[in-house]
Amino acid sequence: MHQVLSPSADRRADAAAVLVGLGACLPARRVTNSELCGRLDTSDEWIRERIGIAERRIADPEVSTGDMAVEAGARALASAGVAGVDAVLVATSSPDHRCPATAPWVAHRLGLGPVAAFDVAAGCSGFVYASAVAAGLIASGTARRVLVVGAETMSALIDPADRATAPIFGDGAGAAVYEAGPHHLDGALNPVVWGSDGSLADAIVVPAGGARERHRDPHAPAAPPGDAFVRMRGNEVFRHAVRRMTAAARDAAAAAGWELRDVDRLLAHQANHRVNAAVADALGVPHEHVPSNIHQVGNTAAASLPLLLCHAADRGDLKPGHKVLLVAFGSGLAWAATTLVWPAGLSPRL
Ligand code: COA
Repeated sequence: MHQVLSPSADRRADAAAVLVGLGACLPARRVTNSELCGRLDTSDEWIRERIGIAERRIADPEVSTGDMAVEAGARALASAGVAGVDAVLVATSSPDHRCPATAPWVAHRLGLGPVAAFDVAAGCSGFVYASAVAAGLIASGTARRVLVVGAETMSALIDPADRATAPIFGDGAGAAVYEAGPHHLDGALNPVVWGSDGSLADAIVVPAGGARERHRDPHAPAAPPGDAFVRMRGNEVFRHAVRRMTAAARDAAAAAGWELRDVDRLLAHQANHRVNAAVADALGVPHEHVPSNIHQVGNTAAASLPLLLCHAADRGDLKPGHKVLLVAFGSGLAWAATTLVWPAGLSPRL
């Protein structure tokens, strides 16, 4: 069985990707700063002030990225009121396996049939990157409806003894359903502005486990294990994050034909509240127009923006007609931004 990619009158090319459903999944276990302070040389005050996090959610060992993606995906489909899609994209840096991709298993578990399914590896920008791919699939007539999930088990990649990363990251998943529709419709994604800088690939990196630094020979138990944890030069990344997110956000607003002063809500990747304050200041967006959930969930990488969309919409912070600007930045380095007008009648399932 395979999908036939034949554009028809029904699969009109050049349609927009319209956001019609949102879902979220967070592990039940909350890890507070005080719990971390028991084993790390850090403090609740430092983490709150310097990063903006009070607690993060951590998945139990038997729960994987795919499991959370299935849950968030099911909720997004229910939120959209649909049972089927033509493609499933899972944006993640913490896939269930290095091979195969997580998305086909997620599609299978959701009962979506033999649809196209693949992972998008673009770090914390993964959800916006995958949304851009979904928009391209829809514009070309290849798909009419796409499920995009951002899902991470960052705790699987974090060295619990590393105070430069352990307080920052959390686990979770968020998902969106996009459907073909006219560009003028509220919820239609406007152009995505994106980019990368691989000269800084080592600024956020998991050194071992890939082809560059292979896993050691399992038959030679004396060999030291490679470093399979995230290593981040936070201070350097901070400066690039502010610069790249500001530029991408500005360009995405311009690509939509918007003035920055028209932006009602700026939804930025939740890595550090000081990064987002600096981006908002550079763009002239008032801080009260910059919703945040980092204090509750930490940095959930590719899950960050879809979770924030769910939480901001759920608490009524995104109103129909609001001009919403999304911007993300992370490992690669890679960044991406896009815009949409918030649609009426979209209720996220949490
Ligand atoms: N607890 C307590 N103190 C800490 C600490 C911790 N967890 N981590 C660092 N410090 C200390 C340092 O030792 C240093 O002390 P000193 O001034 O006495 O030398 C001081 O805090 C400042 O260190 P620095 O590394 O400059 O911290 P920072 O203010 O840059 O904050 C990050 C570190 C990681 C929180 C911050 O750089 C960051 O969020 N970077 C951006 C991450 C990002 O955008 N990622 C995007 C994709 S994931």
